Amino acid sequence: MKSVENTLKNPPRSNTNLKEEIQKLKVEKNAVILAHYYQEEAIQDVADYLGDSLFLAQQAAKVDHDIIVFAGVHFMAETAKIINPTKKVLLPDLKAGCSLADSCPPEDFAAFKSKHPNAIVVSYINCSAEIKTLSDLVCTSTNAEKIIESIPKDQEIIFAPDKNLGAYLNKKTGRKMILWEGSCIVHEAFSFEKIVSLTKSYPKAKFIAHPESESPVLEIAHYIGSTSGLLAFVQKDSAQDYIVATEAGILHEMQKRCPEKTFIPAPVEDDSCACSECAFMKLNTLEKLYRCLLEGTPEIEMDTELMDAARLPIERMLKLS
Ligand code: 13P
Ligand code: SF4
Repeated sequence: MKSVENTLKNPPRSNTNLKEEIQKLKVEKNAVILAHYYQEEAIQDVADYLGDSLFLAQQAAKVDHDIIVFAGVHFMAETAKIINPTKKVLLPDLKAGCSLADSCPPEDFAAFKSKHPNAIVVSYINCSAEIKTLSDLVCTSTNAEKIIESIPKDQEIIFAPDKNLGAYLNKKTGRKMILWEGSCIVHEAFSFEKIVSLTKSYPKAKFIAHPESESPVLEIAHYIGSTSGLLAFVQKDSAQDYIVATEAGILHEMQKRCPEKTFIPAPVEDDSCACSECAFMKLNTLEKLYRCLLEGTPEIEMDTELMDAARLPIERMLKLS
């Protein structure tokens, strides 16, 4: 019944009204909105800080507001909470998870880790807090190379949970990291054959890809980088057209920063789905963002011991970045 009452008390509004209400509520509640590039366009437009996983973790460590509204997925909001245990961290939809984080269950990972007792664990930030407690260092796609290079060359390393990013990093750094077999459903959905065929239709276009993509896709890319890396590349590069293999939300900011250029989302295997959009990221809507600011819920709540144990590898990453 509660949701029906709320619907009656707070009927859905237009995006313009919602954006105005959100601005007012932010001031009233001393809240800040951090949003990832994969969020829907309207959310990106109301964010105080818009960026990739690293930038958002860095901002989360700096903000002095009472409330952080994290417009992203659960592991990102959880990271913000771990860095700011006394602040209220809100996530517009608590079901906004991540296939990559889910592909690494803590118990299975602990067993895997115990088979390599001398290895250092580097975990990609796209994992649960429990996996972070089993890690020595955390990294994002922006700083992964730097973090790995900070470890002595002869040191055995386990990299989790993304096997595609791990394989790419092994190639780049010449290391032989032991890889956990996890992956992102969005970046694995791109079709190598269709990308090749599309590049023939746009012979002058550059093909750019996120390193969570599979290796055949990465092998044909003109440039490989994190979301912020891809964004920086299209701004400084001289091409006119780009085929982009990452979550399609980034195209909004690319188009804003380079209005004269053309950005084409890379084709996916299954034509019947919007697979280049992350269904988890898109669970957050402007309406849910407004309601979570208004009602102060849903909130990220975590056990203090879990937060304390997960904080160290994140802090190490922030210091090295
Ligand atoms: P970055 O923000 O580090 O590019 O990661 C992309 C991603 O998949 C976030 O979920
Ligand atoms: Fe997770 Fe992939 Fe979605 Fe990023 S795009 S949140 S890695 S499922």
